[in-house]
Amino acid sequence: MKPPSTGTERHRSRTRARGPATALAAVAAATAVALNLAIPAQAASTLKAAAEARGRYFGTALTRGDLGISAEVNLAAAQFDMVTPGNEMKWDATEPSKGSFNFGSGDQIVSFAQSHGMRVRGHNLVWHAQLPAWVGGVPLNQVQGVMENHITTEATHYRGKVYAWDVVNEPYNEDGTLRQDVFYKAMGSGYIAAALRAAHAADPNAKLYINDYNIEGINAKSNGLYSLAQSLLAQGVPLHGIGLESHFIVGQVPSSLQANMERFAALGLDVAITELDDRIQMPADSSELQQQGTDYGRVVNACLAVPRCVGVSQWGVDDGHTWIPGTFPGYGAPMMWDSSYQPKAAYQAALSALNSGTSSPSQSPSQSPSQSPSQSPSRSPSASPSSSPSSSPSSPVPGACSATIKTINSWGGGFQSEVTVRAGSSAVNGWTVKWAWPGGQTISSLWNGVSSGSGSSVTVRNESYNGSIAAGGSTTFGFTANGTAATPTATCTSP
Ligand code: XIL
Repeated sequence: MKPPSTGTERHRSRTRARGPATALAAVAAATAVALNLAIPAQAASTLKAAAEARGRYFGTALTRGDLGISAEVNLAAAQFDMVTPGNEMKWDATEPSKGSFNFGSGDQIVSFAQSHGMRVRGHNLVWHAQLPAWVGGVPLNQVQGVMENHITTEATHYRGKVYAWDVVNEPYNEDGTLRQDVFYKAMGSGYIAAALRAAHAADPNAKLYINDYNIEGINAKSNGLYSLAQSLLAQGVPLHGIGLESHFIVGQVPSSLQANMERFAALGLDVAITELDDRIQMPADSSELQQQGTDYGRVVNACLAVPRCVGVSQWGVDDGHTWIPGTFPGYGAPMMWDSSYQPKAAYQAALSALNSGTSSPSQSPSQSPSQSPSQSPSRSPSASPSSSPSSSPSSPVPGACSATIKTINSWGGGFQSEVTVRAGSSAVNGWTVKWAWPGGQTISSLWNGVSSGSGSSVTVRNESYNGSIAAGGSTTFGFTANGTAATPTATCTSP
């Protein structure tokens, strides 16, 4: 993803002229007729109503240009309850020259949202792209002051008007290291904590996010962000959520999406799908459009299965107005509505996923289709059954390890736990944690470890990336389980 660093709005405006017939009622009617929705009578008929019934929001991104396209905004107002400004709150739009702020366009998006009962996700305060050239010319010892002034001024302007801020946008390289942008060059990784603190001081009620792409699955990039999130929280930095942009290619939604959201949630963070689109190499054929429906359904189901997943936002409304063809030549059709505002399989899939359960976020994860084994992250073959438990599991043993289980969250029928694996007075190279469930509990999803075992016995071994623990150090893994929350005594062994 390489959005241009210029301030030009590259939003595609292949507007279809539509008359008054594109008013809200007509769009809603077309949606219902075109889909012949086979959903129960009490099921909601819009994304926002269905999402709200599940304790979530369903959002979209709109630019100022979109506000002039009545068919598009009518559809947006009918279907969505959260708006992210596509470009209007970015640095190049809000502080095009040093100290000279302009919130006119952003304010228009906020007014539109407010007048339609929609909330706003602020996007964004610090980003290497769409950053005016003057910032790159600021002497490095003044960059922190410039960054904090930008954040303070913008977040103060929008105080009380945004639900959340993407405070730091796209800070990571693909290999899990931080981008060497002007903020990093000036402050090192500390710029992220400084940015979050400045935003929190300016708007203490906004949820503060780090937002990035290609962090949807468990991979090097999301591992880098996961470690950073752990360390920021340990330092008391006001980080509240992780935004998974989710600019997918059809058929390529990562299988570890849910487990990845769960591990961030287990840190006590909210997670959100912030910029969902699912691009297809053009021309799109019917099987690709069906697959796109499967993809949208999987993303929505993954969010529904994670109690801390607060909502899903699509990055746009319809295929006629999306950034995809301009940035990924040859690709298109990434939205839930086509360029004539007709709902696609993706819309039907998202709506049915939302309507397929009626409970609040405290539902049992086992009710979600995305909990099926076929969609859980791939696991390596079972652990060796031969390791014997340490005789003194809960206190450090030289050369060995200990493990403790803590309940993080529980709901009717299920719970989420974190297990801390601690090395004794020597470093550990590889670990195996075992416990027995007292009351028929079953693990539904596990991350940062490889589980095996059967019946009430559980065995979890390290992943390739977290087997080594320094003397006295620790690592964690997490899981969600069905049944009544329990904290059995765990044993830890190390080869
Ligand atoms: C995109 C906008 O949609 C385009 O109009 C603009 O030209 C480039 O930026 N990640 C982000 C968004 O966080 O801000 C980007 O939005 C898409 C990728």
